[in-house]
Amino acid sequence: VELQSLALDRCYRLLNHGPTILVSTSDGRAPNACPIAWCMPIDFDPARFALVISDAHKTYENLQLVPECVLNLPTVEALREVMICGNESGRGGDKLARAGIAHHPSTLVRPPRLDCCVAWIEARVVALPAAEQDFAVVVEVLVAECRPGAMTPEGFLDVEKVRTLHHLGGNRFALPGATVTGVTPE
Ligand SMILES: Cc1cc2nc3c(=O)[nH]c(=O)nc-3n(C[C@H](O)[C@H](O)[C@H](O)COP(=O)(O)O)c2cc1C
Repeated sequence: VELQSLALDRCYRLLNHGPTILVSTSDGRAPNACPIAWCMPIDFDPARFALVISDAHKTYENLQLVPECVLNLPTVEALREVMICGNESGRGGDKLARAGIAHHPSTLVRPPRLDCCVAWIEARVVALPAAEQDFAVVVEVLVAECRPGAMTPEGFLDVEKVRTLHHLGGNRFALPGATVTGVTPE
């Protein structure tokens, strides 16, 4: 299927509502991925996101080795993959291969795109603060694409179809319920 490409200054709309993402990385040999709940847009142009990633994770080490990643957007259909990736470390070998999590090459970065997701933001690391500085990893978007139909004609994520995972803590997630449209006051 032909993917829909998103204008970089609009790709914040994939993550503006706070879904948990799967961040895929590479150490130059094997791919890896882990769920990150703590991710937020911080700029439109250049499009940038901040992610809180523990330096204890293989993911952090991978970002030091290959400063690129993909922010993969999973939905409730990928809950199994999210839980596997979030409860094992890539240090124990290729987590994706072990769990049979399918992926395919990205267009501009070395880490792969995960097939179980509905949108993919390929990015490069622009700031990887030392862990003791206790601040987020900042990434800049290179390309953003989604499955056809994931966005409404008005250009918003169609959360009636794309049921993203919103982490409540532990093993619990909320799913998007409804949308409302505000009226701009005169
Ligand atoms: C739903 C969910 C959300 C998570 N969010 C974060 C997060 O925002 N930041 C973080 O550092 N770890 C987070 N984790 C933990 C990592 O995903 C987990 O420790 C993972 O196994 C690390 O894998 P790695 O060592 O292969 O990088 C989360 C885990 C789950 C299950």
